[in-house]
Amino acid sequence: MEHYSKAKLCGMLVFWVLVDVRGESHSQRPCDFPAIYNFGDSNSDTGGISAAFQPIPWPYGETFFNKPAGRDCDGRLLIDFIAQKLGLPFLSAYLNSLGVNFSHGANFATGGSTIRRQNETIFQYGISPFSLDVQIWHYDQFRSRTTDLYNQEKNHFEKSILPNPPDFSKALYTFDIGQNDLAAGFRKMSDEQLHAAMPDIIAQFSAAVQHLYEQGGRSFWIHNTGPIGCLPVAVMYITNPKPGFLDQHGCIEGQNEMAMELNKQLKDAVTKLRTQLPEAAITYVDLYAAKYGLISTAKSQGFADPLKICCGYHEKDGNVWCGQKGVTNNGTQVFGASCTDPESYVSWDGVHYSQAANQWFADRILNGSLSDPPIPITHACYRK
Ligand SMILES: *[C@@H]1O[C@H](CO)[C@@H](O)[C@H](O)[C@H]1NC(C)=O
Ligand SMILES: *[C@@H]1O[C@H](CO)[C@@H](O)[C@H](O)[C@H]1NC(C)=O
Ligand SMILES: *[C@@H]1O[C@H](CO)[C@@H](O)[C@H](O)[C@H]1NC(C)=O
Ligand SMILES: *[C@@H]1O[C@H](CO)[C@@H](O)[C@H](O)[C@H]1NC(C)=O
Repeated sequence: MEHYSKAKLCGMLVFWVLVDVRGESHSQRPCDFPAIYNFGDSNSDTGGISAAFQPIPWPYGETFFNKPAGRDCDGRLLIDFIAQKLGLPFLSAYLNSLGVNFSHGANFATGGSTIRRQNETIFQYGISPFSLDVQIWHYDQFRSRTTDLYNQEKNHFEKSILPNPPDFSKALYTFDIGQNDLAAGFRKMSDEQLHAAMPDIIAQFSAAVQHLYEQGGRSFWIHNTGPIGCLPVAVMYITNPKPGFLDQHGCIEGQNEMAMELNKQLKDAVTKLRTQLPEAAITYVDLYAAKYGLISTAKSQGFADPLKICCGYHEKDGNVWCGQKGVTNNGTQVFGASCTDPESYVSWDGVHYSQAANQWFADRILNGSLSDPPIPITHACYRK
């Protein structure tokens, strides 16, 4: 009894100290997230598209994993930094059949995924067949099958790779998707058509969150979409731009405006979801601001030109993408190799950020300073 009250007193002291120092109260204990379930595209794919289609080649993975690790990066993605921050192992991809361990969650993201079905094969423009609605089917299948197996399984080893069924409602559900809906829109639609499609894109996103809530999900962490017009692949082919086409940092202004419009609608949808789903903690994270923040201050942050690409062969005589073999205009065989200092690049391969950039973003978003509500990820759970 006495022991118990000492512990309580100690807890109160910690409470005061936190309020004093921070001037605000993250006085509550950190959440106990036992698992993460992630939905998204290549920004958070940890092996899905490599399992389902052609594996991502070397030198992807060189900085951290020392081998290709199913990630479109030289090292860790934001979702990996999230897992580390929450003290959980890296997420296995649901589509991977080897060496997986789902005891602390699963990753349904695949490179090239969109919110809306695009009715294209991956062999045309790299659009994944696993759009968000399909990722939700995968989740449902995962949940019902692992629950059956968990309840039947006697073998400890087999059981140790399965989630504990009650953890589904205590897990953190994370999202990073929408960038490819924009990219496909830029390719196939006029600006007016893309604008007109946005409410449907957002409605399909909301339907996914709603479905997970109905299945018992309560804590949601939602990244908005980044400044797509700042990706080197977007700007590298532009010659003699009209005044105003590029902003002061060399990004395509019109594309970034589209991303901001989608984000505005996403944020409004999150506000609406909060009233529709009263027993949920839904955090909207302004990752756009973090990404544009690094791009606009790269030099002073110790990074190279943010529009330069670390991995790949990009010269006047041709472009060969990271990890690919190709032929230049004069017929020379070249390999899309890595730069010697990936840690100083913002862009790894022209489309995807480097591990160093992802680390920088993690440092800015995980403490809650770019979130609505402004709560660190360690505290972003629903509390009864
Ligand atoms: C894909 O096809 C379906 C069925 O025809 C259609 O409803 C949907 O709008 C299409 N998606 C896009 C992005 O065009
Ligand atoms: C799966 O991961 C959990 C948690 O890290 C661990 O306890 C368990 O032993 C792992 N199972 C296997 C088969 O590696
Ligand atoms: C072809 O281009 C490569 C790479 O720029 C260069 O090293 C090589 O000398 C060129 N060869 C010829 C025959 O022009
Ligand atoms: C979060 O981290 C960033 C980068 O270190 C810092 O500038 C910001 O003040 C921090 N915000 C909070 C609320 O701790």
